[in-house]
Amino acid sequence: MIAPSLFAQARKPQVKSRKKFRSMTDSHRNYEYHESVLLAEVVALLVPAPGRILVDATLGGGGHSAALLAAGAKVIGLDQDPEALAFAAARLADAGENFRTVRSNFASVGAALDTLGVGQIDGALLDLGVSSHQLDTPERGFSFMREGPLDMRMDPGALVSAADLVNTMSGDQLERIFRSFGEEPAARKIAARLVRDRMVQPFATTKQLADAVETVVPRRGRSHPATRIFQALRIAVNRELDVLAEGLTAFAQRLAPGGRFAVITFHSLEDRIVKQFFKARTVEFLDRPEWPEPRPNSDFMFKAITGKPVVARDSEQRANPRARSAKLRVVERISHER
Ligand SMILES: C[S@@+](CC[C@H](N)C(=O)[O-])C[C@H]1O[C@@H](n2cnc3c(N)ncnc32)[C@H](O)[C@@H]1O
Repeated sequence: MIAPSLFAQARKPQVKSRKKFRSMTDSHRNYEYHESVLLAEVVALLVPAPGRILVDATLGGGGHSAALLAAGAKVIGLDQDPEALAFAAARLADAGENFRTVRSNFASVGAALDTLGVGQIDGALLDLGVSSHQLDTPERGFSFMREGPLDMRMDPGALVSAADLVNTMSGDQLERIFRSFGEEPAARKIAARLVRDRMVQPFATTKQLADAVETVVPRRGRSHPATRIFQALRIAVNRELDVLAEGLTAFAQRLAPGGRFAVITFHSLEDRIVKQFFKARTVEFLDRPEWPEPRPNSDFMFKAITGKPVVARDSEQRANPRARSAKLRVVERISHER
C-alpha cells in the first residue's frame, strides 16, 4: 500500500527539457502491445519526480507508466481491461512498491485510490480510447479489419456488447448513436439497413456488420465505410463520453495543489469535453453584460499549462499514424490559499 504520508516527502518538481526526455523515453516505448503517443511531452508536462504520486488512468501497455517510473515517481495504474493490467504489471514488475495497479474504470478513481489508502495525487494522465493490442485482437471485436465477435467491450465483464446494441436497439436509437458518436452522414440509411438485416440473421461478427454498412455506403478513398459506425458503437458500448465527463470531475477532486492533469484525446467529441471542462475551471472571474462588475468563478481551480493543445511532432506522426489525431491538454491544480 502507498502510505499517504509519502505526500509529506514530495519534492518540488523540476521541469526537464523536451530533448533530455526524448532519449530517456525511447527505451520505454512498447511497439508490440501499444506505441505510446506524445511520450516525451507527457513526461515533461507531468513533471514526475521522486515523492510524487501519479495516476496513469489508462494503463494499457504501460508505456507512459514506464517513463514516469523511470523519472522517479510512484505510479498507480488503472485500467478496466484485465489483460492490460496483467501485461503492464508483468512489464513493470521491477518497479516494486513504486507501481500499483487497480482494475477500475477511471470514472471511479476515488474508490480506487481509497482502496490503496491514497488521498490526494500529484498528477494524472488519461490517454483515451483503445490500445493497439485491443484493436488488433480479433476476439475483442473492435476492428472491421479483423473478423471476430461483435463485442467492443473494454471491460470484458461489462453487460452490453456491440452485438447487443445492434440487435436490440430501435432504428431511431441506432441512428442517433451513429450520428452523435460517429458523425456519420448516412446514419439513417445504415440504421434502417441493420434493422432489416437482423430480422433475417442477428449480427454476430465484425465482418457481418462491416459488410452490411458497405452495402449502404460504397467504398470511396482510403478509409473503410464502416469506420465511423465502429467508432460510434465503441463509444456507445463503453459509454466513453459520459465516463470521460465523470472521470474529469473525479480526478479534479483528487488533485493536490500543484498537481498536473494531462489528457490525450483522439477525436473532436472527446476533445470538446476536455476543452470545455478545463476552460470552465481556468477563468478566475466571470463577466456578463448585465452584471455591474465581473464576479469570482466558483469553479476556478486550474491554471492552464498548455494553451493550444500539444500535438505530435512530424517524426512521431510519420512513425505512428495514431499520433496524427492526438491532442494533449494539461492543467495544474491551483491552491485556493494563495
Ligand atoms: C490508448 S490505451 C493507453 C496506452 C498507454 N498509455 C500506453 O502507453 O501503453 C487506453 C487504455 O485505457 C483503457 N481505458 C480506456 N478507457 C478507460 C476507462 N474509462 N477506465 C479505465 N480504463 C480505460 C483501455 O482499456 C486501454 O487499455
